[in-house]
Amino acid sequence: MARLTAVIPAAGMGTRLWPLTYAIPKEMLPLGPKPAIQLVVEELIGGGVKDFVIVIGKKKEAIAEHFMALRATEPLFGDDDMNVRFAYQPQPRGLGDAVLCAEGLVEGDFLVALGDAVIGGPAFGDLVRRMLRVKAQTGASATVAVQTVMPADTSRYGILKPGEAGPDNSVRILDLVEKPGPEHAPSNLAICARYVLPPTVFGLLRELPVGVGGEIQLTDALHLLVRQELAYGVPLSPDEERWDVGSALGYGHACLSAWLAHPEYGAELRAMARQTQRGV
Ligand code: G1P
Repeated sequence: MARLTAVIPAAGMGTRLWPLTYAIPKEMLPLGPKPAIQLVVEELIGGGVKDFVIVIGKKKEAIAEHFMALRATEPLFGDDDMNVRFAYQPQPRGLGDAVLCAEGLVEGDFLVALGDAVIGGPAFGDLVRRMLRVKAQTGASATVAVQTVMPADTSRYGILKPGEAGPDNSVRILDLVEKPGPEHAPSNLAICARYVLPPTVFGLLRELPVGVGGEIQLTDALHLLVRQELAYGVPLSPDEERWDVGSALGYGHACLSAWLAHPEYGAELRAMARQTQRGV
């Protein structure tokens, strides 16, 4: 059986972060002393993944340079068993299109992990392990990470229509809709940056019309997939959180969380933050 490849879309233009991302890819923004995308890859390594396809686009060369430098300097990345490759998305046509750009480099089921979101927590990589376990236990074709969001925020996420409960607190997915307003949202369970998908998704993506925001949406392909195949949503555990560098507020929160949780610097920084708070 082919090893599970992680496709990491990292071609988005980061417009929600301008001017910060005029010249710097959002995936290269620091979360603690490492760029976000390095933490994404380290999280997935923690989940047992060794094959990576990072989808980059214009002005994203820094990402490839970073991984070349890591390969030369960090034992974790220099391992001969580790395989980091790159695919190119010529135009920013959306998440679904970015995933499609990796098709030729993927065999069998694959993981999609958004390059601008890290799942932080004490058991780094555990979410991916649970997603694979739920897939095996239920016989599902796809599993998707989910988190509960405020009803007012559904228009920022892919939202699922939940069915019966499954193992590991999972829930069957009956339908998905991309960025519905609260009045149309089937729940407040949101897709959260990680997907385990079957290769049939590529065929569905190829046929899709443009969706929300004039982009090819991965959620729209999953909307079609769940009509024919079984899919489950796997929630973040109470000690996991999404560190999202895709928006200014998300980046602020992710940055603070990553520094304050850092094993080497966290304790001292928390003490400094308490002192600063007393001063204001
Ligand atoms: C993307 C997906 C959306 C998902 C979100 C968070 O949206 O399209 O379904 O809920 O990531 O993982 P974006 O944040 O890129 O607009």
